[in-house]
Amino acid sequence: MRGFDPRTSFGPDVAASYDDQPRGDEDAAADLLAELAGRTASGRALELAIGTGRIAVPLTERGVVVDGIELSAAMVEVLEAKGCDLDVWVGDMAGVATGRSYGLVYLVYNTVFNLLTQDKQVSCFANAAAHLDEDGVFVVEAAVPSAWLPSHSYARPERVEADAVTLDVCTYDPVTQVLDENHVRIDAAGTHFGPVSCRLAWPSELDLMARIAGLCLVERWGGWQRQPYTGHDQHVSVYGWAGGSGPR
Ligand SMILES: C[S@@+](CC[C@H](N)C(=O)[O-])C[C@H]1O[C@@H](n2cnc3c(N)ncnc32)[C@H](O)[C@@H]1O
Repeated sequence: MRGFDPRTSFGPDVAASYDDQPRGDEDAAADLLAELAGRTASGRALELAIGTGRIAVPLTERGVVVDGIELSAAMVEVLEAKGCDLDVWVGDMAGVATGRSYGLVYLVYNTVFNLLTQDKQVSCFANAAAHLDEDGVFVVEAAVPSAWLPSHSYARPERVEADAVTLDVCTYDPVTQVLDENHVRIDAAGTHFGPVSCRLAWPSELDLMARIAGLCLVERWGGWQRQPYTGHDQHVSVYGWAGGSGPR
């Protein structure tokens, strides 16, 4: 998207209001992630793109020690203000190393798509694998691209209130798989833009990225409550070391 800087998508304004409208899957996600972490020897977890701790905070409340990597200093500031005892590294989840290893590494809420090239997404899987213990798993939760793509260009109402509307205005490039999206809010104070670009990837492409990193698909559900995966809407995918081989 012309003029788009990914770092501004989660700047101070977005960070300040990020927790105002929770997605609603926090408890279910934290329950399942705590169970997966609990099956491993270390039980420690690393969240890639931890944001304001929407999932990490309830996960720590379930007794899991969680570290994070996060690009936006503004999101980390909001997280730190919550007073939780979490270590966070500010930087790119496709490359930053914490110097620790974990039983669980996870990346949720479609955030793998915030990496805008296939190379970056491949590097992210490699970085996740580089942080995994021998018995560790990498969990990815993302949309199935078709759920987001009614057509290659569209606008749809996202929120309709008496004194404001928010429109989701999008174009999709099938060559790069990049969806350019602008959340346009119109209210009495004027028009406000919330641009974000995403590189969409089908679960099958993510599975190949896992294989490149030495991992393989262990489980795939259609949501945090272990619903069957139907190929629509969303998937929660669990990757482990291929053939129980452990880190290379
Ligand atoms: C949709 S939010 C998700 C935050 C949190 N995981 C959650 O579930 O609420 C996306 C987050 O990814 C972060 N992010 C985007 N690209 C990143 C990157 N390359 N490395 C680390 N964090 C990134 C953004 O700053 C933002 O905090």
